[in-house]
Amino acid sequence: MRLLRKFFFLIFFVLSECQRFGRFANIVHRIRDINEFSRSYDFIIIGGGSGGSVVANRLSENPDSCVLLLEAGGDETFLTDVPLMASLQGMTRFNWRNKAKRIKTACLGAVDHRCNLPRGKALGGTSVINFLIYTRGSRHDYDEWEKLGNPGWSYNDVLPYFMKSENCTNCQDIDENYHGYDGYLNIEHPGYESPMSKAFIKSGFDLGYKNVDINAKEILGVSRVQATMRHGARCSASKAFLKPIRYRDNLHISLYSQVIKILINPITKKAYAVEFVKNNLKYIVRAKKEIILSAGTFNSPQLLMLSGVGPREHLEELGIPLIKDSKVGFNLQDHTALSTMAFLVNKSITVSDTGVQNPLHILNYLWNGKGPFTIPGGAEALAFMKTKMNKRSENYPDIELVLGSGALNGDFYGGFRSLLGIPNNVFDRVYRPVLGQPAFGIAPVLMRPKSRGRVMLRSSNPWNLPIIDPNYFENEEDLLTMVEGIKLAIKMTKSKHFQKFHTRLHKISMPGCEEHSFGTDSYWACVLRNFATSLGHQVGTCKMGPSTDENAVVDSELKVYGVDGLRVVDASIMPNVVAGHTNAVVFMIGEKASDMIKRKWENR
Ligand SMILES: Cc1cc2nc3c(=O)[nH]c(=O)nc-3n(C[C@H](O)[C@H](O)[C@H](O)COP(=O)(O)OP(=O)(O)OC[C@H]3O[C@@H](n4cnc5c(N)ncnc54)[C@H](O)[C@@H]3O)c2cc1C
Ligand SMILES: *[C@@H]1O[C@H](CO)[C@@H](O)[C@H](O)[C@H]1NC(C)=O
Ligand SMILES: *[C@@H]1O[C@H](CO)[C@@H](O)[C@H](O)[C@H]1NC(C)=O
Repeated sequence: MRLLRKFFFLIFFVLSECQRFGRFANIVHRIRDINEFSRSYDFIIIGGGSGGSVVANRLSENPDSCVLLLEAGGDETFLTDVPLMASLQGMTRFNWRNKAKRIKTACLGAVDHRCNLPRGKALGGTSVINFLIYTRGSRHDYDEWEKLGNPGWSYNDVLPYFMKSENCTNCQDIDENYHGYDGYLNIEHPGYESPMSKAFIKSGFDLGYKNVDINAKEILGVSRVQATMRHGARCSASKAFLKPIRYRDNLHISLYSQVIKILINPITKKAYAVEFVKNNLKYIVRAKKEIILSAGTFNSPQLLMLSGVGPREHLEELGIPLIKDSKVGFNLQDHTALSTMAFLVNKSITVSDTGVQNPLHILNYLWNGKGPFTIPGGAEALAFMKTKMNKRSENYPDIELVLGSGALNGDFYGGFRSLLGIPNNVFDRVYRPVLGQPAFGIAPVLMRPKSRGRVMLRSSNPWNLPIIDPNYFENEEDLLTMVEGIKLAIKMTKSKHFQKFHTRLHKISMPGCEEHSFGTDSYWACVLRNFATSLGHQVGTCKMGPSTDENAVVDSELKVYGVDGLRVVDASIMPNVVAGHTNAVVFMIGEKASDMIKRKWENR
């Protein structure tokens, strides 16, 4: 049996190397990486992540537009495709490896006392390393964006763009009026459902929540996950929006190309060229129409500041000539989650590292695109809920619960631990005593945080990673809401649907919190300050807002205030983070921005 297992693993890795297995033929479709550049392009897009990939596709639909897409990372692989292995991707070259600066309010128990902040460095960006969960947030999120002074961003305005990007395949229990079927982005349910998922949904009923389509009219409720997935494999931004159009002659894609500066004329304030480095060679390429900055919530503000657009004092300190004084890098928001709760059960119905090594599961994935390997990062079902901290009368969730089909005690290979920044001694103390026992997790996620952080330059050297202060739980209400979220998660597991597996919370106190009695509010508050982590949903650092908003960096057409010919199109423009995972939102932003850009240039 052991030999057989080794044998299958060998095959698995050989396949991953040659990347030629039939059903994954799309990976053989490598992107043509260009090395010779025209002197100028109509449009230059910086960053081929979730936002940049959409814009590159839509702008190059017009054969008369020449488009250059510059991406700092390389192409994805066979291994990044496997949904269950999402948490391992943070350990690869596809992660920029940002870490937050030390803060006093969170990540106190993490490795080096610093929060881990992975970001994708690949064509497809963070969608190559994310957890594939497809959610759009609540209608109230967008109606609020509009109310803040951003015309055209209400829910009714943005819904068509969500639908435009989507190709919903084999979706069950959905409200068809809210989904798209002709877009590039494939959405499916995972090809596997554990008994935990059913128990979770039924427990939601017991608490008075309905089984809803979390991407339709009403998101308060419980549901299986919808995932950015094609035939059971990851459907990244690149696979969705770039690979199908890789033969377009008017779209040049250059990988391993890091932009170090946007050149802006200091007198006319027009952004006219980008400076980038590829294979140790420096290039300057001009933009005839526009430059589109899609480098993500950390790197877009970094590049703006390096180019002279940012807070006056900060830039002066670093000796960067000021082009436009602007609140770049402020308003950083993120979703925090607690992934340390392990719920033990008395039957092997959960998913762990060793559990899935079963060769049949591997074959099922390879041949059918089904089985546990298709569970996105292990997340099977979601609940959007209201805690007693929520003062809003509408059905606007303040907490999400994510059901994981495994827990930290099944993390034999260390991928999950490393993603979360859980130190080994904590793992040994808390999880090793129940190593490999069947268990699942429920992670509460804070949907509408009040705390705000900031991204700053470390220096004027573009090769340094920025300084990131996430400022999690600076606002006490954020902490209290999460404590309520934890209690909701535990309450779910007390229902008869979970109790038939004799579900119980694993009760070894987390190191650093032993002085609080286990399970009290103060115990959970302590655990949150020590072990809550980022869910990777950072937004807001190039805030969209009206000219009267002194914190706004871009206007409602995503044009940078005070600079001509430059827009930001990525997660950083969100004025407030939405009550949902952010990838779909960035695709929507990309679709909407593309239409605005096309409209501007259509008659010229
Ligand atoms: C671990 C993790 C799990 C997540 N899980 C989910 C999930 O399940 N569901 C969900 O909806 N969202 C999830 N997200 C969030 C989601 O993936 C992101 O919000 C989204 O991908 C952001 O898109 P973007 O275009 O703003 O940035 P990115 O996708 O990060 O794109 C930025 C791109 O710009 C490139 N770049 C940066 N600087 C430069 C430069 N100087 N020159 C050239 N190129 C540059 C980067 O390499 C990158 O490719 C997760 C995030 C993380 C980190
Ligand atoms: C949607 O996805 C399905 C399954 O991959 C595919 O057969 C179909 O052609 C796609 N539709 C579009 C419009 O791309
Ligand atoms: C698991 O626990 C439940 C509830 O306590 C019990 O009915 C069931 O027999 C147990 N199953 C096993 C395999 O021990």
